[in-house]
Amino acid sequence: SQRTLVLLKPDAVRRGLIGEIIGRIESKAGWTIRALELRDLDRVTLEQHYAEHEGRPFYDPLMEFMASGPSVVLVVEGERVIEGVRALAGPTDPIAAAPGSIRGDFGTIVRENLIHASDSEESAERELKIFFPDFT
Ligand code: GTP
Ligand code: MG
Repeated sequence: SQRTLVLLKPDAVRRGLIGEIIGRIESKAGWTIRALELRDLDRVTLEQHYAEHEGRPFYDPLMEFMASGPSVVLVVEGERVIEGVRALAGPTDPIAAAPGSIRGDFGTIVRENLIHASDSEESAERELKIFFPDFT
């Protein structure tokens, strides 16, 4: 099975949606939470995580937002969990996200879209190393 890196972003934590979002992930058959922590994400971690977006117009406000309060950092393991959490989250723009998805149910602002989930096996491997370097 697969492992994926999930972040409940600062807006989700501020709005009291940790339980709601983790509940949806936990409810999926056979998926297991392997690590879980409330964490202030430092600049170095965020620069590594969002390296692909450096130079984009939304990069600086995104970094500021991601440092604006603690996130919940999770490792989730299970069958097709990489594709699966992305499907639960919905598309990046919450207004384009269908009701029933996390972003579609709770989001309105593209930057403040509640959740991050690795988008491929390669991304998951890279991101798990950034956030949990000692995790095996
Ligand atoms: P992540 O799981 O956070 O990586 O989201 P994603 O994979 O759905 O989107 P992507 O990696 O393309 O962008 C990363 C994050 O940057 C998004 O989740 C948004 O918070 C923000 N972002 C992406 N595109 C835009 C944009 O066009 N405008 C703004 N304001 N923010 C954006
Ligand atoms: Mg992404």
